[in-house]
Amino acid sequence: MQKSILILGACGQIGTELTYALREKYGNENVVASDIREGNEDIMASGPFEILDATNYGAIEDVVMHYEIEEVYLMAAMLSATAEKFPMRAWNLNMSSLFNVLNLCKEKKISRIFWPSSIAVFGPNTPKKNTPQNTIMEPSTVYGISKQSGERWCEYYFKKYGVDVRSVRYPGLISWKTLPGGGTTDYAVEIYHKALSDGSYDCFLQRDSRLPMMYMEDAIRATLSLMDKPSESITVRSSYNLAAMNFTPEEIAKNIQKHIPNFTISYAPDFRQAIADSWPNSIDDSQARQDWGWKAEYDLEKTTEEMLKNLR
Ligand SMILES: NC(=O)c1ccc[n+]([C@@H]2O[C@H](COP(=O)([O-])OP(=O)(O)OC[C@H]3O[C@@H](n4cnc5c(N)ncnc54)[C@H](O)[C@@H]3O)[C@@H](O)[C@H]2O)c1
Repeated sequence: MQKSILILGACGQIGTELTYALREKYGNENVVASDIREGNEDIMASGPFEILDATNYGAIEDVVMHYEIEEVYLMAAMLSATAEKFPMRAWNLNMSSLFNVLNLCKEKKISRIFWPSSIAVFGPNTPKKNTPQNTIMEPSTVYGISKQSGERWCEYYFKKYGVDVRSVRYPGLISWKTLPGGGTTDYAVEIYHKALSDGSYDCFLQRDSRLPMMYMEDAIRATLSLMDKPSESITVRSSYNLAAMNFTPEEIAKNIQKHIPNFTISYAPDFRQAIADSWPNSIDDSQARQDWGWKAEYDLEKTTEEMLKNLR
């Protein structure tokens, strides 16, 4: 199947691996990676690469026209922890980039959009265990407010203008190819790096903070699978709950100790603790399973093995 794709924010934690996966699937020359900054050599050399600001509608339109782009994956955003420091910048980036791609699709210049939401759309009043697809959503972070608003706008553009936008609420993502970009679940990546380099890790969340997480390979597979499905099978046009595993800092540390017995963890919760406290412990993703056959493959055990093997 031939289609031309543009990724905005391709040099980040998810964008990097998404670019690899899409280039493998559709051919290097058909997948244009772009970001506001340069990324790793591989991303820039293995296919078309553009420096592109996702808040600039005209600049995106030029690239879309030049490469005859059909699908856009919008990965540019400011993440939860950084957004608390720069609320207005986060709101402006997260919303204007989304409106740009929604409007491009409304104008029929592209035909399909992927835009990621997050478990941050939930808030302190949401049921924490097995959080349902449809439930109370009162996010208490700037990032969560932007994702919740984004979801509403996606559904609106689908219903009102027929814009084919698809979305999942990613949990915290664990990967080794690229470092995470300023989120509250970053600890679950840092811990593997520190276990190997220092044999110890000082965690910014407390020992019993349980959060939903996912290994990157599962996240990429979910994304590609959702984008492949016929439009009729997608019943959720805000964003799908997506789950794989959930654990606490203490549990991930114990899991690492199975491979590195002398590894130690200490706890020094900072401002990110309040963000973590407002999010669910676990997610019910039965709607995604039912609509497009989603099923995670990586649990904590398998994730730890992969992380340590690859980082070594
Ligand atoms: N990583 C996670 O655990 C996670 C979880 C839930 C949702 N998400 C969502 O997935 C998406 C990608 O997240 P990520 O972890 O890869 O983020 P990241 O911070 O690692 O990457 C974001 C990329 O966007 C780029 N960028 C920033 N401003 C830009 C602009 N104006 N124009 C173009 N590019 C710009 C950055 O340079 C960076 O390369 C985001 O929407 C994020 O909210 C991520």
